[in-house]
Amino acid sequence: MRHQLPIGLDQLSESELLAKLDPDLLPKHVAVIMDGNGRWAEMRGLPRIEGHREGIHSVREVISLCLELGIGALTIYAFSQENWNRPRHEINALMSLLEHYLSTERSGLIEQQVQFRAIGRLDLLPPSAQHWVRTTERETAHLDKLILTVALSYGGRSEIVDAVKSLVAAVKAGAVQIDQIDEPLFAQYLSTYPLPDPDLLIRTSGETRISNFLLWQVAYTELCFTSTLWPDFRRRQFLLALLEYQRRERRFGRVLSAISSSA
Ligand code: IPE
Ligand code: IPE
Ligand code: MG
Repeated sequence: MRHQLPIGLDQLSESELLAKLDPDLLPKHVAVIMDGNGRWAEMRGLPRIEGHREGIHSVREVISLCLELGIGALTIYAFSQENWNRPRHEINALMSLLEHYLSTERSGLIEQQVQFRAIGRLDLLPPSAQHWVRTTERETAHLDKLILTVALSYGGRSEIVDAVKSLVAAVKAGAVQIDQIDEPLFAQYLSTYPLPDPDLLIRTSGETRISNFLLWQVAYTELCFTSTLWPDFRRRQFLLALLEYQRRERRFGRVLSAISSSA
């Protein structure tokens, strides 16, 4: 008699995957390192920017699934401080794409009740990109179904250094006493405040590194690395990552029995 092979999750349809999700175990905050756009384009003999353009469809799908599932915060890494070292023409193309995305997508974000926030050294962006970032932030500031944070010209170490500078200034001004400084207080000086730390961080494209993203915030985040390139990371792949997250046992340094008894 033949043994029945267990059906792999990747053989299930999108609705079957959705049905497998436990609504009580969803992450509250998902962070994503959207990587692999260039390779996606190069594999097709296209200029790298076509991969970045295609990646916007993935951003839309991930946002809409967060909204459907009630995931309240999504933070996406769109441009790192280190990305300023790319060729000028690629940087220019990325900045134009950002401006195009914000100017065309803004009304859709408002309709879907998405609050847009940007983190990073935004003053380094071209003035026109800064304009669209500020406009989108202002026009969506009152919305709260999903907090979409886009990391632009962002580096985790700079963020920590900037937080230290602000905290030192607060101490000098007498607003904070040195003895009051602890982890929750320090976190208030980070650009992600008041978001909770990410429960899940996804990185696409097969790279297994953090690349200077949310260094403080990912201390206890579940990491999910997938070889899928960002432009191919759609609803299905996001559902698979969420199911993988739900299979993990989050211990936070404790033993399992202590977690269940304190829950
Ligand atoms: C990620 O895709 C997007 C940005 C870093 C702006 P890449 O452009 O890094 O794509 P690969 O890693 O070269 O394939
Ligand atoms: C990380 O991707 C930054 C973004 C996704 C915006 P990179 O492609 O720049 O990272 P490395 O160079 O592979 O570490
Ligand atoms: Mg890359």
